[in-house]
Amino acid sequence: MIADIPDGLRGSGAIEVREKLGTISGGDILDVGTEAGDFIKTLMRTLKGYSSFLGIDISADDLQKAGEQLKDVPVELMEMNAESMSFPDNHFDTVCISYSIHHLEHSDTVLAEMYRVLKPGGHFIIQELYSDGEQNEAQRLDRDVHNLNVRIDTILGIPHFEALTRQELKDAVNKIGLTAVEVYESSWPVKCLFCEEARDCENPLRKESVDFMRKEIDADLARIIDHPSYDELRREGESIKERVKVTGHSPASVMYFFGKK
Ligand SMILES: C[S@@+](CC[C@H](N)C(=O)[O-])C[C@H]1O[C@@H](n2cnc3c(N)ncnc32)[C@H](O)[C@@H]1O
Repeated sequence: MIADIPDGLRGSGAIEVREKLGTISGGDILDVGTEAGDFIKTLMRTLKGYSSFLGIDISADDLQKAGEQLKDVPVELMEMNAESMSFPDNHFDTVCISYSIHHLEHSDTVLAEMYRVLKPGGHFIIQELYSDGEQNEAQRLDRDVHNLNVRIDTILGIPHFEALTRQELKDAVNKIGLTAVEVYESSWPVKCLFCEEARDCENPLRKESVDFMRKEIDADLARIIDHPSYDELRREGESIKERVKVTGHSPASVMYFFGKK
């Protein structure tokens, strides 16, 4: 963990979430929508203990990124649609999903599948960005870049939706049927507690962050260069690129749910 935690990160709620994670013995853990494996890395650093990690993702390309990032740690990765998992009922001690609910075509189905494969008494952990609440200008810019990305993915037929509000997330979690649900909010994700660049990230206008967002927008638009909506979305992208120079960029706030089956 970074030795000297910046004030914004210290007051964000991330430390409380890390402490909660530190009370959980994870056992055999399933991570759904693993992508590059960031959440598995965070859990490895924060949980009280664990026996094994299995990450699944519908995208082989994303799992390849996880394979690279997690090459030195014992993690199993499988390409699988989480709407219909090949695991028996009551199989894992912990199931988790991070930043993925708004990527799911049928999120209720996936959350129900996760519940099915979780052992009675097992831990259900969710980390997800949300769209409402007291988010600052730099976070609102993150939301607008995200929404542009959602529109481009939608044009390309890739399931991707705008971030849910806190109430919509609570409603989705209520439907799972978990017990002992605890909810946390944080303006920074827990992984920032381990990032050497966290102090710089306190400044939304730092050059790396502004340049990164501008490049992300260009790269995203390049994916639909031949589409009839390109000109309209490019204008929107250009306007966000101008705004980021003024407001800077910070990640959207995050919600955490801890429940049991
Ligand atoms: C934003 S990424 C997840 C990020 C990662 N969990 C983290 O915390 O850094 C969302 C992932 O969900 C995956 N995904 C979308 N639909 C899925 C499904 N039906 N089954 C499994 N994975 C899915 C996508 O391929 C993508 O890799």
